[in-house]
Amino acid sequence: MKLVTVTNYHEISVRAAQLVANQVNKKKNTVLGLATGQTPVGMYQELISMFKRGEVDFFEVVTFNLDEYYGLSSEHPQSYHHFMWDTFFQYINIKKENVHLLNGVTENINKECKQYEYLIQKNGGIDLQILGIGDNGHLGFNEPAIGLNSKTHLVNLAEETIYANSQYFNDVQEVPKQALTMGIGTIMKAQKIILLASGRKKAHVIESTINCPVSSEVPATALQLHNDVIILIDKEAAYKI
Ligand code: PGA
Repeated sequence: MKLVTVTNYHEISVRAAQLVANQVNKKKNTVLGLATGQTPVGMYQELISMFKRGEVDFFEVVTFNLDEYYGLSSEHPQSYHHFMWDTFFQYINIKKENVHLLNGVTENINKECKQYEYLIQKNGGIDLQILGIGDNGHLGFNEPAIGLNSKTHLVNLAEETIYANSQYFNDVQEVPKQALTMGIGTIMKAQKIILLASGRKKAHVIESTINCPVSSEVPATALQLHNDVIILIDKEAAYKI
């Protein structure tokens, strides 16, 4: 794992956007794995600015998002479908048919998950996967104790994740208790991975990700076994290393 520590959140966003743009400029039909949450928002804003300046073009880009709440339809304001269109896709020239997110209201979970894996493979696999990280070490919604070879599947959200994400809902009771997520095994198949983390509250989990033995107790430790990972963090998130 290559650790890159920058001054602040803005610098994380600019560097991450440059890495994504470099990848897309090198391969027009790049397959991107994308993340939701607060951390990548600055990167999406930088990519929109770069697109408007003509520095990157998404016309042939294909995307697969990491996860979606189970039980929320794509129109729900807290769904990750909504987040991605609201934050990023509506501002760039990506084709709607090239955008993939799991269907949170599928009637056949097993089929939905298998189909997602199939589509990723059919598109040639993920070239570059962007990741955030949960305070408990989750990647996507792969909570502690989930198998490190897992494929796309339905998960029960950890209490701390439900609590952390309740800031986006009116009430903690409204937060879905389950989600569909790419598995750790799915994530590990990406050619390149960039994990983003900012702020003191991520310092502990970043330290564990780098220094703890690989274990499903901290799912992000699996990244130690991948041969092309950049951990892009700010000074605050790096202070325990
Ligand atoms: P955050 O979420 O970017 O909002 O901190 C990350 C995550 O839970 O994976």
